[in-house]
Amino acid sequence: MSTQAPEEIRGVGHSVKRKEDARFIRGKGTYIDDIHLPGMLHMAILRSPFAHATINGVDTSRAAAVPGVIAVVTGELMAQHNLAWMPTLSGDTEAVLATDKVRFQGQEVAAVVATDPYIARDALDLIDVDYDPLGVVVSPQQAMVDDAPVIRDEKEGQTDNHIYHWESGDKDATDAAFASADKIVSLDTFYPRSHPSPLETCGCIADVDGATGQATIYMTTQAPHLIRTVFALVAGLPEENIRIVSPDLGGGFGNKVPVYPGYVVATAASLLLGHPVKWIEDRSENLISTGFARDFHMHGEMALRSDGTMLGLRTSLLADEGAFHADAQPSKFKVGLFHIVTGSYTLPAAHVEADGYYTNKAPGGVAYRCSFRVTEASYLIERLVQNAAYELGMDPADLRKKNFIPPDAFPYESATGFVYDSGDYHGAMDKALQMIGYDELRKEQEAKRAEGKLWGIGLASFTEVVGAGPHKDYDIIGVKMNDGAELRIHPTGKAILKISSKTQGQGHETTFAQIVAEELGIQPEDVKVQHGDTDNTPYGLGTYASRSTPTVGAATAMVSRKIAEKARRIAAHLLEVSEEDVEFTRPNFSVKGAPDKAVTIQDVAFAAYTNFPDGMEAGLEGSFYYDPPNLTFPFGTYAVAVEVDPETGVWKVQRMVAVDDCGVRINPMIVEGQIHGGLTEGYGIAAMELITFDEAGNCIGTNFVDYLLPTAVETPRFELGETVTPSPHHPIGAKGVGESATVGSPAAYVNAVIDALWPLGVRNIDMPLTSAKVWEAIEAAKATA
Ligand code: CDP
Repeated sequence: MSTQAPEEIRGVGHSVKRKEDARFIRGKGTYIDDIHLPGMLHMAILRSPFAHATINGVDTSRAAAVPGVIAVVTGELMAQHNLAWMPTLSGDTEAVLATDKVRFQGQEVAAVVATDPYIARDALDLIDVDYDPLGVVVSPQQAMVDDAPVIRDEKEGQTDNHIYHWESGDKDATDAAFASADKIVSLDTFYPRSHPSPLETCGCIADVDGATGQATIYMTTQAPHLIRTVFALVAGLPEENIRIVSPDLGGGFGNKVPVYPGYVVATAASLLLGHPVKWIEDRSENLISTGFARDFHMHGEMALRSDGTMLGLRTSLLADEGAFHADAQPSKFKVGLFHIVTGSYTLPAAHVEADGYYTNKAPGGVAYRCSFRVTEASYLIERLVQNAAYELGMDPADLRKKNFIPPDAFPYESATGFVYDSGDYHGAMDKALQMIGYDELRKEQEAKRAEGKLWGIGLASFTEVVGAGPHKDYDIIGVKMNDGAELRIHPTGKAILKISSKTQGQGHETTFAQIVAEELGIQPEDVKVQHGDTDNTPYGLGTYASRSTPTVGAATAMVSRKIAEKARRIAAHLLEVSEEDVEFTRPNFSVKGAPDKAVTIQDVAFAAYTNFPDGMEAGLEGSFYYDPPNLTFPFGTYAVAVEVDPETGVWKVQRMVAVDDCGVRINPMIVEGQIHGGLTEGYGIAAMELITFDEAGNCIGTNFVDYLLPTAVETPRFELGETVTPSPHHPIGAKGVGESATVGSPAAYVNAVIDALWPLGVRNIDMPLTSAKVWEAIEAAKATA
């Protein structure tokens, strides 16, 4: 780790105001729909009304005759260019425009390109598609029965709906642990399908120049470089002729990682028509067809001694992957990093089994504010631990503390093979308990219970795993997950940093400038951060799963250090001393023992172009590709107090305390903003958000009236605390934080409600805990009492 730069530099640890906000609060951001190119046409997509149906034919003649319509694109036309299908990020294939049949409601069937977006949209109604509806499968349980319709019958050798079986951990050791247990606690729970719902929907403008072959595609993407490579492979275009520009993004949350058919069709249309083509999806299109999250049916069992010592964990999952297996996750891990399910506990044995199934639902499985399925894992273990505590007659805080991995056990290798870098789980828990006044609250709860009130306290102690990742284990469709930073110091001592990550609201333009400030002593406002344009930034796998700080943040520190080394040599030349005699106290290079004899980093930058030593290459710039030696493991404890109304099932959060440890905080204000956002999303999932389907596969939750996002009115007040346990291998000791609160908090909310209802006999309610569901659970418990 570097020495701390002086206060006035405002490097790491300062709540520097977000540089990007100067344009956002003035309405000067540039989003895809703000871009207008000369001669631009507009595209709209026709989507299937059926969840499963054979296509007998598509008649485009009526639509093509509408004045202003330039072209109608069908699957057949795409097939003529070998573009009717494309690869997914999980190595499956996905239809671009349907040819043989449709496999989920909302699937892309055809597209209209017109001179005006409204003409394009209206003309969709005039495309006549002859469908024959087929039997529909909306859950993995339905998908696995013998006579279930085979959804992917076009795939050679695919005779059922099973996609994969995956295991992790040691089955024999786990069986032995269970055989020796005094108590086995089990839980069946469903983590429902939810949607990232970024404020800005997806879209693109494809601009292919037929004369030069240059394809410039402005696109809502969190991973521009990976997309460029995929486009080169799919479309066969030379990669140097493809430029992906991801301008300002109105949120991503994992939803803007996959390649969507609209991007491919717009690019093909631009190539064929010789005009730029814009496609912007509407809210319902975003909700029904783009990358969903979760949809895991989970069974967990924990083996314990009667004194509460945890001995083993067994989990099995059914993953609902939708019609195409398109999870955005490292290739090697079929259910992402779900095998972090042992959480914060010393669990000597664990075994995880998972089976993925095709269903007639939209594909996705994106890392929605979550590092590749860690949210589901964290939820399962934290719900299981709470139920285990009650079944053993223990306090849930005590059971956790008894089994936490102790601070001196790090680096700790989990039973499923993760090596946790650092942690102090007791520290975070103690702080959360103290902040919420746990002991007092439990007494208060007893008194309220005596009055017949339903009061609950829920805890969740999560361990996240972020920063994918080391090249040995981590790739997406074969591309290793390393990321780059390029830094150039100009003669006047100002700098430009080009990074492979893509900010979508996280504030990278500020925090990465702070890392340069910390390392080189150049103030953050003098460091311009550029991102999102593949022609102007180094290669990398993009921003999702809280990976930017552990990967690009590290690359930024490393390239700054490389430059600092050269700067030291120039400083020695200017100061006329040997390199060993130069001290760097940011921003000054001074002579050891003679601090008055000094030059600044700005003097050095000028000299790099005007007065450098003989034999030295001019300039002060460099690049660095970072291969993380390990992932980073942020953690925390969340504590929630709720009151449940027994008459209506309405539950209200009384207190919400969140103690997070993401190692060294680059910008505490931005970190708190990330945590607030994550806690809100976690609350939304726990309380109200649900994408579901009826028996015919109709998506329920296609708009913000049916799909409920929490507003400021519903969102509880958050009380934040922190502990700081640096990552020992990260150059500045930081861990990621972007996802942690969404990963950790749903279990805390649900545990609080179950805690309130436990005396009635309620053991589980699956999210979202709508008041109707809570009321039904209360009534059912009363009926069986
Ligand atoms: O990949 P993503 O940017 O979504 O997640 P992240 O790496 O956790 O970073 C989210 C934001 O929080 C970025 O602006 C980071 O620079 C900032 N951050 C921080 O200031 N300190 C940390 N220890 C972790 C993140």
